[in-house]
Amino acid sequence: MDVTECRAIVTGAASGLGRACCLGLAEAGAEVVAVDSDRKGLDSLAGDRIFVQEADVTRECEVASAVDAAFARLGRVDVLVNFAGIYRDGLLVKDIGEGDFVSMPLAQWRAVIETDLTGTFLPVRETALRMVRDGVRPGVLITVSSVSRNGNPGQGNYSAAKAGVVAFTRSVALELAPHGIRAAAIAPGFIDTPILSAMDPDRLSAQVDEIPARRLGTPAEIFAGVRFAIECEYFTGRCLEIDGGLSF
Ligand code: NAI
Repeated sequence: MDVTECRAIVTGAASGLGRACCLGLAEAGAEVVAVDSDRKGLDSLAGDRIFVQEADVTRECEVASAVDAAFARLGRVDVLVNFAGIYRDGLLVKDIGEGDFVSMPLAQWRAVIETDLTGTFLPVRETALRMVRDGVRPGVLITVSSVSRNGNPGQGNYSAAKAGVVAFTRSVALELAPHGIRAAAIAPGFIDTPILSAMDPDRLSAQVDEIPARRLGTPAEIFAGVRFAIECEYFTGRCLEIDGGLSF
């Protein structure tokens, strides 16, 4: 697919990787509907080829309306890039001393599964439904996983969600191939965006030491992967790792 002519929905668009993706697509000539729950962040992104749409990706009705609005605004949608995500790290069971232990609250588990996994399912489902119904060909659905999908201490909720994203994406790719629609995941390593500001600086610096490239990645490097996934018509059902060599 020619990225200069595509019409895309990008979720998680107000910040970090989603924001860089919207700007990169618009700069390439594409038209974008930028979706996020952060109204202020969206407003600062709106531009010539970027239309903004506030929605929470965990809410079924809001996602359906946002996708409807995007199809109406753009005429057709042939690309979805799903960046919306959070993490809420914590150990499953933590020793807090003097024989006491705490465990991960259910709400902490659910928040991450809801946003990162269900918040991927809903935009993919709503976009795929309209693509299939409208006969959009080619189409591509891009989801965002993480190096943590293989399991990481303190990230049981996030790892489970991000592994689920890859399995879901492969299922979608197999189901929709007959419709000319591809689906692929991108698994970033540690990328320099606001999401990392919540991380303990010492832990982050220790993580960087373990990256063969010895640095954080940039949002532009993740956009390069998005661009590849859009342009390469033979790329489907796979997860593209962009992590400086971190994962095995
Ligand atoms: P970020 O925190 O800068 O941006 C995330 C965006 O998602 C924010 O604009 C936020 O408002 C939005 N969002 C969160 N919950 C939402 C909801 N319920 N509805 C709508 N929007 C919502 O984070 P960043 O770094 O841009 O991350 C983007 C994606 O990449 C996430 O899925 C993250 O898990 C993934 N990722 C990021 C890595 C990194 O090192 N930055 C590494 C691996 C994966």
